[in-house]
Amino acid sequence: MKKLALTLVMAVIMVAAVASTAMAVEPYYHGDFADNSLGCAKCHVTHAGQAAALLISGPTQTDFCYYCHNSLSKSPYDAKNGMIATPAAGGFMPSVAGGFYKTFDFDNHNYASHAYTLTDYVYSTSVHGVETYDGDVWDETSIIPGGTTTLTGDFRCGSCHDPHKGGNYATSTIMPRLLRLDLPKLVQEATDNGGVGESVYDHRDWTFGSIGASDTTGFKTQVVTGYGDNVGIWCAGCHDLFNQMDADAGQVAVDDAGTSVADKYMHRMNFTLDNPTDVTHQSLEKVALSVNDKLVCLTCHRAHGTGSSTSDTVWTRASASYELSDGSTDDESDSSVLLRETNRDVCYDCHGAAEFNKPSDQS
Ligand code: HEC
Ligand code: HEC
Ligand code: HEC
Ligand code: HEC
Ligand code: HEC
Ligand code: HEC
Repeated sequence: MKKLALTLVMAVIMVAAVASTAMAVEPYYHGDFADNSLGCAKCHVTHAGQAAALLISGPTQTDFCYYCHNSLSKSPYDAKNGMIATPAAGGFMPSVAGGFYKTFDFDNHNYASHAYTLTDYVYSTSVHGVETYDGDVWDETSIIPGGTTTLTGDFRCGSCHDPHKGGNYATSTIMPRLLRLDLPKLVQEATDNGGVGESVYDHRDWTFGSIGASDTTGFKTQVVTGYGDNVGIWCAGCHDLFNQMDADAGQVAVDDAGTSVADKYMHRMNFTLDNPTDVTHQSLEKVALSVNDKLVCLTCHRAHGTGSSTSDTVWTRASASYELSDGSTDDESDSSVLLRETNRDVCYDCHGAAEFNKPSDQS
């Protein structure tokens, strides 16, 4: 299975390599500015900016991003509705990151089918709450749940993405998906992961397919086919407390220094599974192990939004003025917490009723 996937990825990469020798210098909206600085004008206007930093559209930075990323007309990525344009039949692939408004219904429709329609989409049941997020509800010293640091300014698209950092991927400074290198917690402690300190730079081994060149009629577009092993280290750039990597981490309470709330026990994170073949529904759209079978944050969560539902008896949280994408608000919302599957199906896919992938089976 793995081999087949690799061969496919290689084929895509080879096609892309051939294509890239053919394509000359081309405008790339988020980078390669040295080759073509015209790109600045796509986003900045000198005397009539609608948002801070002289942005062409506003009033918030998120509105600015939506100027191009709320449909497939100005860019190949519709982050609002969870779509990626491709030359394939139908013209788009569902984004496995989900969307901030609508998300492909991964629970009930077949991602692998390559025959999608708008009716396969549902309202997102939880999102990373850009702009609507109100930090007060978490605790006073740390506005990032599971983090010991605070964000500067609003929580927005630019908290996670660096709009200038596109270009030739992957080189030492270019991250997949323009992900930021300068998160509040840049580098994990040297004592983490059994003494191996990890930096956020370490997760550039993502794989992509369906790469097309941008030209006057189309854009560069890439669909993710595999997550890098250290993508979870990147998430820990904000949610550092949740990144407990030791074996049996769940047996040792973590002192939540930022909050003075009672210590917590936490599931082990960011380690290689000894028994990856025991995982049911292991695929990019459901329980997504990394390219080398690591359990990472994105194994269970989506980055932008999820359409999976939770029954209200499962878990409630004091949500941050949570506005659901259907417009309703619910202060004690039953958040689906960005999970990739309904309720706690992600747990069952690895553990059955604690039948496999038990701590005793894991080195
Ligand atoms: C895809 C849109 C986009 C393009 C293209 C773009 N910028 Fe920006 N730029 C932004 C955004 C968004 C910000 C605000 C960043 C923030 O506040 O976090 C910004 C901020 C800036 C700033 C303020 C300093 C900073 O980093 O906050 C400067 C200066 C700047 N851009 C110059 C340029 C120049 C010069 C070019 C062309 C070489 C360019 N930008 C191309 C989106 C873009
Ligand atoms: C003027 C239109 C425009 C604006 C505004 C814009 N983008 Fe983009 N974005 C594009 C286009 C076109 C692409 C695809 C081609 C490319 O990557 O340059 C893209 C690609 C991306 C990608 C995928 C990059 C990759 O290599 O996989 C991300 C992430 C992204 N944009 C985030 C943002 C964020 C965050 C903002 C707001 C700060 C923003 N964009 C504003 C046009 C825009
Ligand atoms: C720039 C900082 C930042 C980064 C990086 C970040 N997050 Fe978050 N995350 C936040 C903030 C702030 C909140 C609280 C706001 C909210 O719930 O919308 C949050 C909330 C969450 C939630 C709770 C959502 C809910 O509905 O209760 C989950 C789950 C989550 N993040 C997972 C992740 C994962 C997985 C990654 C890596 C792909 C990640 N985060 C990266 C800042 C970040
Ligand atoms: C909490 C961090 C975080 C925030 C906030 C965030 N993104 Fe992303 N974004 C990611 C990650 C991680 C990925 C890759 C996820 C994947 O492949 O599953 C991604 C992927 C993307 C892509 C590539 C296409 C896709 O769907 O995978 C685009 C475009 C993008 N983001 C735009 C945006 C825009 C626009 C906003 C604000 C409305 C935003 N992002 C807010 C972390 C974030
Ligand atoms: C990708 C597979 C995977 C998923 C998904 C998963 N687990 Fe685990 N889980 C493991 C492995 C492997 C271990 C053993 C970790 C170790 O070495 O300490 C483990 C350990 C545990 C433990 C024992 C903790 C300890 O340290 O003694 C519990 C309880 C647990 N998981 C519950 C859950 C729950 C609840 C969920 C869903 C939220 C879940 N798991 C999802 C693989 C998984
Ligand atoms: C094994 C599956 C699994 C993995 C892996 C996982 N999470 Fe979670 N996460 C959950 C579940 C389930 C919840 C909902 C709370 C619960 O049931 O315990 C949650 C809740 C959250 C929340 C909201 C918590 C709160 O107190 O508001 C954040 C933030 C979060 N996760 C971030 C992360 C980050 C960052 C990582 C990687 C370091 C990660 N998660 C890895 C399953 C997972």
